Amino acid sequence: IGKKIIHREQVDSTQIIANQLAREGAEHGTIVIADEQTAGKGRMSRPWHSAKGKGIWMSIVLRPNMMPQHAPQLTLLTATVLAECIDHYMGVRPSIKWPNDIFIHGKKTAGILTEMQAEQDRIQYVVLGIGINVNQDEHDIPPELRSIATSVKQETNQEWDLRESIQHILSGFEVSYEHYMANGFAHIKQTWEKYGYRIGETVTVETLQRTWQTVIVGIAEDGALLIKEEDGNVDKLYSAEIQW
Ligand code: BTN
Repeated sequence: IGKKIIHREQVDSTQIIANQLAREGAEHGTIVIADEQTAGKGRMSRPWHSAKGKGIWMSIVLRPNMMPQHAPQLTLLTATVLAECIDHYMGVRPSIKWPNDIFIHGKKTAGILTEMQAEQDRIQYVVLGIGINVNQDEHDIPPELRSIATSVKQETNQEWDLRESIQHILSGFEVSYEHYMANGFAHIKQTWEKYGYRIGETVTVETLQRTWQTVIVGIAEDGALLIKEEDGNVDKLYSAEIQW
């Protein structure tokens, strides 16, 4: 991972560039990093604010030898890597909010966007996009987002060296990825549940069919949220609005 790192001052989106490179055959572990994105992409076609020099905006090309249905595990893996880096290196304990947002003190600090190309039950490539708000002050965050978004700097009262932070994330990623490929998902599940937001608590869940209260218990191998119903059964939740 990271033997080839492509660094650009300004791009539309590292995700777009990494996808393009992957289509053209970029090797496993290729990384695209930018100081600034003019059209950063979030999940569900939302924009992702990526101001110059304020955060980590990067995309990792992976060519894992695995089936497409296991791709969500890579997103969960990435969330645990970011959580551990923020906890151990930056010294503040984050939580992972299902499916894959990183929160500090109740506000979103980082997000992950996973895109995949698959053919005949095999993954051709995955592009993992990682966005971390690192050094934004409050006035750098758009006013309408200030109550729900934050940066590591705001939560640690300290400015962070982006280059060093990136190195920590990449080396953490490499270790976790190798461990996962050799030993499977168990360790990721354990770490995810260690940081999982509101695990063991009752939340209100809303799907198209109904709204009800349930207890969050953890994460499943396929990326589903595990919830415990009143009758004691554990169910899987794939998509739902959760009133956190
Ligand atoms: C989300 O929480 O909605 C996911 C945000 C992902 C943002 C990162 S920044 C680097 C990469 N390039 C993009 O355009 N998006 C991802």
